[in-house]
Amino acid sequence: MALETSPHTADLAPSSSFLQVRDLRVHFPTEDGIVKSVDGVSFTLERGKTLGIVGESGSGKSVTSLALLGLHKNSRAKVSGEVWLDGEELVALPESQMRALRGDKVSMIFQDPLSALHPFYTVGAQIAEAYRVHHRASRKEARERSVEMLKRVGIPQPERRAKDYPHQFSGGMRQRAMIAMSLVCDPALLIADEPTTALDVTVQAQILDLIRDLQQEFGSAVIIITHDLGVVAEIADDILVMYGGRRIEYGTVRDVLRQPEHPYTWGLLQSMPHLSGDVSDRLNPIPGAPPSLINLPGGCAFHPRCAFKDQVPGGRCTAERPELLPVPGTPKHIAACHFTAGSRTQSRGAGIAGAAK
Ligand SMILES: Nc1ncnc2c1ncn2[C@@H]1O[C@H](COP(=O)(O)OP(=O)(O)O)[C@@H](O)[C@H]1O
Ligand SMILES: [Mg+2]
Repeated sequence: MALETSPHTADLAPSSSFLQVRDLRVHFPTEDGIVKSVDGVSFTLERGKTLGIVGESGSGKSVTSLALLGLHKNSRAKVSGEVWLDGEELVALPESQMRALRGDKVSMIFQDPLSALHPFYTVGAQIAEAYRVHHRASRKEARERSVEMLKRVGIPQPERRAKDYPHQFSGGMRQRAMIAMSLVCDPALLIADEPTTALDVTVQAQILDLIRDLQQEFGSAVIIITHDLGVVAEIADDILVMYGGRRIEYGTVRDVLRQPEHPYTWGLLQSMPHLSGDVSDRLNPIPGAPPSLINLPGGCAFHPRCAFKDQVPGGRCTAERPELLPVPGTPKHIAACHFTAGSRTQSRGAGIAGAAK
């Protein structure tokens, strides 16, 4: 198949967007078959803007972000497509050059700060080291920079706390420390993978505010990955909804949340925890389980879980894979669903009322 060989050629046009991802695919060969974790994902993002990538667990969000950082380069994953960042294509970039970008121009905040922070070094030393990897700076300068960053992310008494070890920080403080570390080189692209999932709601809100403030200050492009549409509503400009490694809906947050087109997006909205409540406050999880990424269901990958497939004539939902088509009246908004706009509008009310019973 064409995917086995990289489709990279020198004549592909660079993007005018700050970040443009074109037809990104990340496939893992396994004993059971090829796991198509990311299968044809595209989006654009400008400086100073935030994209929210949402989807249930296992929909390919983290694998997408790792691909943007070039972190599959040394694995058995087959990565194809294009990632243009500021005029440079990253999928074909050799690992040595990618390493120079990572932590500098592109950086990532992970869900679990303990996995990113080393237990045996002080927080300040780790931030200073992250700086020195990419900048010629004396130890003293780097140390000062680390204290400055800790201060910027709201750590009280930063001079003293810089000398603490990660375990001496609370969960929220550790996440702040990791944000400090990922921002120490002023990245132009910051990827935050479920940065608040492990935190309680009050701290979540503080961390989101912090990411937003820092983004304004640094003018970076931000990708925030989450299974929580509430977070996206708070912070993002655009939203990409993923299902089974593919895009299922994409557009501005305003359009997608005001007029969600895909029954899966409706399901995510229904299962959204209230920002003010806790996780046990979930409304209605989407019935059924996420699909196998080795053998996605034929037709629409969501059809086994979709309450509306019988309303589309001719069994199209089971037989024919829906294309991503523009949603009339909303320029950037696209969705992949056979359920036509007119019938959707009628059934959306009924579906949500039905599901909320
Ligand atoms: N190295 C790997 N080998 C095989 N499958 C993988 C590998 N890494 C991730 N996957 C699979 O890819 C899918 C998407 O994973 P991920 O991107 O982590 O999901 P999420 O949307 O929850 O972040 C999952 O089914 C996961 O099991
Ligand atoms: Mg993930």
